[in-house]
Order: sequence, then C-alpha cells, then structure tokens
Amino acid sequence: MSTDGVNVERRRLLIGATAAIGAVGVAAAAVPFVKSWNPSAKAKAAGAPVTADISQLELGQRAVFEWRGKPVWVVRRTPEMLAGLKKVEDELRDPNSDEVDQQPEYAKNQWRSIKPEYSVLTGICTHLGCSPLFRPEIAPADLGSTWLGGFFCPCHGSRYDLAGRVYKGVPAPLNLVVPPHKYESDKVLVIGVDKGAA
Ligand code: FES
Repeated sequence: MSTDGVNVERRRLLIGATAAIGAVGVAAAAVPFVKSWNPSAKAKAAGAPVTADISQLELGQRAVFEWRGKPVWVVRRTPEMLAGLKKVEDELRDPNSDEVDQQPEYAKNQWRSIKPEYSVLTGICTHLGCSPLFRPEIAPADLGSTWLGGFFCPCHGSRYDLAGRVYKGVPAPLNLVVPPHKYESDKVLVIGVDKGAA
C-alpha cells in the first residue's frame, strides 16, 4: 500500500496527467485502495449506497471510495492528528460546523465524525470543485511551520484541517461535506445512507 500525501511532486504530476479523466480518476491513481463492494454502475449512477471495508486502513492513512460519482475519503486519524484539531480552531472559518448543510447532525461535533478515529468526507473543494490533496505531514516546507496536517487544494490554495474544516482567509467558503454514512460493523462502512435509513 503506498503512502498517501508524501511525495508532493509525484502527486502534482499525477494530477496533471489525470486531469482529463476527472477528480475520481485522480483519487484512484494517487491513493491506496481499500477493498470495497460496489453496486452496479447503473445503481451507482442513481446514488445507491456504497459498502466500504476499511479493515486494511492503517493509522494516518486515507482511502478513497466513490459515491454518486464523487470521491469519498476515509481518513484513519492518529491520536496526534485528533489533538491537532483542537489546536487549529482559532484559524478556522466554521470550527463548530454551524453550517447545517455541510454535514449530517451526527457529524456536528468536534471531530465531524461518528467515530473520532475515522473522518469521512466528500473530497470536493467547496470553492470551485477541485479535489484537494491529502497532506498529513506536520509543518512541510511548502505549507508552513503551523501546518498540522489536513487537505490542501492546489487549484487556488484553500486549506482544510483533518476534519475537513476550512481555514480563514482562503477562497473556499465552507467546510468539506460529510456525506451520509453509517457503520455496518466495526470495520465496514456504508456510504450514502444514514443509520436507521437503510
Ligand atoms: S477549487 Fe479549491 S481553492 Fe479553488
């Protein structure tokens, strides 16, 4: 399984090379894949829920699935990553997830997730729809000494923390969307349906 978010230059090349096939293609090329069972193409187009096995996802890694033609990220956050969420709150535009359309009610909490360890986000920038990069490193040279890990949109420079919360002073106006989802078991996630709605 390749490490996601480390080789920035390679990622830029991948993005350039795959731009023509869209954001989902980029995600598929650049990130580790985790086993999933997907419905037929026809059902997927209609928005059927997608079942995702996250048992192979290691701490600090991100996996990408697809739901309704969009990339859905699952990040397994380390204790350090979770601690970092608190530290950046003053720099965020909507730290408490008050914009109700950006997440289901059960993700309106300090982690923006059902389980603190797993973040589930739609990987589409809320500015103009690029797919941001997963940048889990602490203080990389290109993002500055205060960077504690998050997502960086290469199109116009928007920044999000590891809960998908947008920073102040960037073009993106809103936090990343948390799609409806639920846990079928400890390590099996269903994306596209809420608990009790299946
Ligand atoms: S599309 Fe992400 S910053 Fe513009």
